[in-house]
Amino acid sequence: MHRIIFATGNAGKVREIKMILGDLGMEILSMKEAGIQASPEENGATYEENALIKARAVAAYTDDIVMADDSGLEIDYLNCEPGVYSARYMGEDTPYSIKNANLLERLNGVPDEERTARFVCAIAAVLPDGRELTTRATIEGRIGYEERGEGGFGYDPIFFVPEFGKTTAELTAEEKNLVSHRGKALKLMKEELKKA
Ligand code: IMP
Repeated sequence: MHRIIFATGNAGKVREIKMILGDLGMEILSMKEAGIQASPEENGATYEENALIKARAVAAYTDDIVMADDSGLEIDYLNCEPGVYSARYMGEDTPYSIKNANLLERLNGVPDEERTARFVCAIAAVLPDGRELTTRATIEGRIGYEERGEGGFGYDPIFFVPEFGKTTAELTAEEKNLVSHRGKALKLMKEELKKA
């Protein structure tokens, strides 16, 4: 039985991924737990390319299944910024309170109907025999007017989901995983893996 090593150093993502893939009956390890260190340059032009770059870098060290995700927030009013640069927006180490405040400021005075946005997630898997799979999913929402909620991570406090009347930071982890870009892309990947 192969294990799945997830190629990310982001603790927020690791938490979500372990919950979502939990029912596969396979051991899920973060890169850190597998004792693998890799930080390839994410210089792809798309989420899929970046996810594959991360998965291939870790696959070089193991015979396990390796998965990676690449995700981002696209704000329509800002020409889909920060997009594939979401982690690097305003600098990788800048606190999200500052990044979120900056995005809210850039949308100052913009009405509700023009605040549409989505989280996008691509998942890549590299299988032990070298085959590569990718899936992608999105969640549509709007940018709020202030940070709300303590859950999730990153841009969650400003991402408002109309169906719930809450930001993704106000959803429980279970609720977020059911509807999120990462939850949906991982479920698609689970189906791909069963067929592979
Ligand atoms: P990367 O996929 O590691 O390149 O980083 C994507 C970045 O997009 C994250 O660091 C977050 O800033 C943002 N992001 C992706 N998914 C989410 C999410 O579910 N909630 C909040 N922010 C997210």
